[in-house]
Amino acid sequence: DTTLGSAAAAKGRVFGTAVANNHLSESQYASTLDTEFTGVTPENEMKWDTTESSQGSFNFSSADAIVSHAQSHNMKIRGHTLVWYSQLPSWVSNISSSSTLLQVMNNHITTEMNHFKGKIWYWDVVNEAFNDDGSRRSTNNVFQQKIGNSYIEQAFITAHAADPNAKLCYNDYNTDGINAKSNAILAMVQDFKSRGIPIDCVGFQSHLIVGQVPSDYQANLQRFANAGVDVQITELDIRMPTPASSANLQQQATDYSKVVSACVAVSRCNDITVWGITDKYSWVPNTFSGQGAALLFDDNYNKKPAYNAVIQAL
Ligand code: XIL
Repeated sequence: DTTLGSAAAAKGRVFGTAVANNHLSESQYASTLDTEFTGVTPENEMKWDTTESSQGSFNFSSADAIVSHAQSHNMKIRGHTLVWYSQLPSWVSNISSSSTLLQVMNNHITTEMNHFKGKIWYWDVVNEAFNDDGSRRSTNNVFQQKIGNSYIEQAFITAHAADPNAKLCYNDYNTDGINAKSNAILAMVQDFKSRGIPIDCVGFQSHLIVGQVPSDYQANLQRFANAGVDVQITELDIRMPTPASSANLQQQATDYSKVVSACVAVSRCNDITVWGITDKYSWVPNTFSGQGAALLFDDNYNKKPAYNAVIQAL
């Protein structure tokens, strides 16, 4: 039978999903994952507040469980994420010295990458470092506040030294069309390339709203590919008001199809990852009140119209 993973594989792409370790014991969750998907991204388990909740004391147990599940099913693994202002323990946010913070950041990157060495397909080295207007995100971002603009390149240099074979990504949201934020990230990529700062990939989260896929989605992916990086769709979901209307579910199918077709049309787009398997466990209702139904399987693991649209677009 055709699955998301097999259809994507026929086009040379991986079709992944975010996975939460605490759901792997649910048989329908695990069987849908194992049947349909060829890639996983730990939804929270590799983030700093989980992996180094207190300084120098690392815990990779829940991430290890996802990694071993993925490996035993021959799935690719995206490492998410090494440096991010959010889900960051307060002991890090409270560091006041820039040199200490740089040391702590580098130690975190090196220790986590060493632990997973050889097992990760692409790493999200830095996540969400820009504002929508293209400026650097400084609010609540201790790295920007204390280290300044250079924290991003420092993180990539450290990551490359920790594992020279690892593919390194910058990942962000609201970058899915040509806009001030994606312009700024493209300029950063071009600057890194011109100065020899290692970067291999840009991840487009693509947390989208039904009926609002940017018309220049494919053109945007292509201009990053032209700058010499791989592009990946890393956290795709397309939300709508709940309960979902059948008209919105049809529109969502059209929207998913546009995103998948765009990736397939760009040869350097090698991954489409949705941010969860089932609507039942999606992060959307907890974050965007009154919104949900953003994924390919409904609360009961039934395939939605968007599922069939994705298969057809692949
Ligand atoms: C979300 C997870 O899905 C939630 O479970 C968690 O409570 C908050 O983070 N951008 C990212 C992801 O890069 O890590 C976020 O994941 C969603 C937005």
